[in-house]
Amino acid sequence: MRPKVLVTRKVFDDTLNLLSKYFDVESNQRDVPLSPTQLVKRLQGKLGAITLLTDTFDERVLTQSPELKIICNLAVGFNNIDVKACTRRGIMVTNTPGVLDDTTADFTWCLLLATSRRIVEADKYLRAGKWKGWVFTYFMGHDIHRKTLGIVGLGRIGKGVARRAKGFDMRVIYHDPSRVDEATERELGVMYVDKRTLLRESDFVSLHVPLLPETTHYISHGEFALMKRSAILINASRGPVVDEKALIKALKEGKIAGAGLDVYEREPKVERGLMGLKNVVLSPHIASSSYETRIKMATMAAQNCIAGLSGQRPPNLLNPEVLGR
Ligand code: DGY
Repeated sequence: MRPKVLVTRKVFDDTLNLLSKYFDVESNQRDVPLSPTQLVKRLQGKLGAITLLTDTFDERVLTQSPELKIICNLAVGFNNIDVKACTRRGIMVTNTPGVLDDTTADFTWCLLLATSRRIVEADKYLRAGKWKGWVFTYFMGHDIHRKTLGIVGLGRIGKGVARRAKGFDMRVIYHDPSRVDEATERELGVMYVDKRTLLRESDFVSLHVPLLPETTHYISHGEFALMKRSAILINASRGPVVDEKALIKALKEGKIAGAGLDVYEREPKVERGLMGLKNVVLSPHIASSSYETRIKMATMAAQNCIAGLSGQRPPNLLNPEVLGR
């Protein structure tokens, strides 16, 4: 009998074909997110699951899915999965690191450029037929070149964002719980500073930290109070890293000049207060969504699943402690 695998949301036909060479595949190609109850129901008899950020794997789901051996998340982030609980049950968990770094760094820059130069607002204005002639003071934005970019979290994506800043001749400062070595700092042209200095001195603050208890509401009222009134906040990491209510207050009171957001505290819900603000650019969690990268992510997740269920070590195993038990 071939192992059974669940694909919780729509993926490419090529990915399904690859998986079908090894497994009996059940796939939710209708692409409606599964409720925890539906997820548990579909997981019965499945040894593997290819999952998305919209699937929550907590104690409750895991307890009711005793056959599960591997969860392969189609994302680099894995805050939707209780990895410790999986480890206790001997369930392997994998993610898709590396392949989306440049795509996400590109998109971070899209948000930064669009927010500082008011591209979305200007586009809407033009399409609404409001452009009646050239006006000297219309849609003035903020310069990017030679400004200070503050990167919070200098991991693979943060580094990609720093590299791209060279073309804009920027001063780049960063904060991270672990400082990178001097050679890397030199290569990237970045300077390590404490959090306070970063917030005070940056014209753009870009967040690239994983969602952890210590990064939840990493940016809140106190942080906005430290930032420049002309500063722009960019978040393409995880929504809860920013206290959204505090952000709305800061934007309304002019404590900062703008924000470019790809992620939200309660996705897919977006705080109503953000919707009406002109000085924000909002995108629906698409930073890694390029054709090239999404294909790589899907293939990677499938390969993790194939390796894990054929007795090999999955290339992107997050909890190697489960092996050899
Ligand atoms: C990730 O990979 O964690 C992104 O947020 C979704 O692709």
